[in-house]
Amino acid sequence: MRGVGVIRAGRWILDGINWEVDAGEHWVVLGPNGAGKSTLMSIAGARMFPSRGEAAVLGHELGAVHLSEITPAVGYVGAAEGEHIPDSERVVDVVATAVHGIRGRWRETYDRVDMERAVGLLTTWGVGGLADRHLGSLSDGEWKRVMIARALMTDPEMLILDEPAAGLDVAAREHLVADLERMARDEHGPCTITVTHHFEEIPSTASHAILLSAGHTIAQGRLRDVISDASISMAYGSALHAVEYGGRWMVVRA
Ligand SMILES: Nc1ncnc2c1ncn2[C@@H]1O[C@H](COP(=O)(O)OP(=O)(O)OP(=O)(O)O)[C@@H](O)[C@H]1O
Ligand SMILES: [Mg+2]
Repeated sequence: MRGVGVIRAGRWILDGINWEVDAGEHWVVLGPNGAGKSTLMSIAGARMFPSRGEAAVLGHELGAVHLSEITPAVGYVGAAEGEHIPDSERVVDVVATAVHGIRGRWRETYDRVDMERAVGLLTTWGVGGLADRHLGSLSDGEWKRVMIARALMTDPEMLILDEPAAGLDVAAREHLVADLERMARDEHGPCTITVTHHFEEIPSTASHAILLSAGHTIAQGRLRDVISDASISMAYGSALHAVEYGGRWMVVRA
């Protein structure tokens, strides 16, 4: 992204963003409520055009090609994404339909290979036993895992996770973080961009971070350099102290 800005209702909710994510990197996106994190993810995930500046996703300049040509190569797990899928949808179909970039199973036919891959992904993410359940019957944690399996169905080059651990209990969160770390250690796995509010949720495999506040970049680069007391205190407008423990993080008041 070069000079990327997004204007909504006469206000620049994102501006002056210069950002590059390379293959093999695992990024975290930090910043307070309303900082522009999800907006940034919509552009990075080729779901939205910037109002100004230039953005390229996986080598495609946004605007030069139809977004639907890029989206299958970007797995995207946002809170809003799943809301368009009917609750009555069978879990395995929710995952399998991602191959066609469509929501809801309606007259499409699926190869046995697609169904096996969908079940395989659900199993990898610990929810194989839920394949025949209806989407609406899942807990928040189960739902998140199903959405990750769905996002990986197209074997994307990049995976975007917008608050993947929100609402999970501490053990479920730790299981999810462990699974994300396992995926990051797989050299054939996608590069990842993960939005989070809680520093405890940052996987130890995260390599880089971008810290936003009021639509602007406060700091970006190597995770260790970005999570400084000065930069997080400025971004969140409160005196904060970051503590590292075995590659994981927590933040307390300074
Ligand atoms: N369509 C819109 N019209 C007006 N304002 C908008 C619109 N979309 C987003 N915004 C505003 O832009 C700002 C950034 O929103 P965004 O969802 O990107 O923040 P965020 O960092 O993801 O916040 P959170 O941590 O609460 O999820 C917010 O103040 C939001 O109200
Ligand atoms: Mg958000």
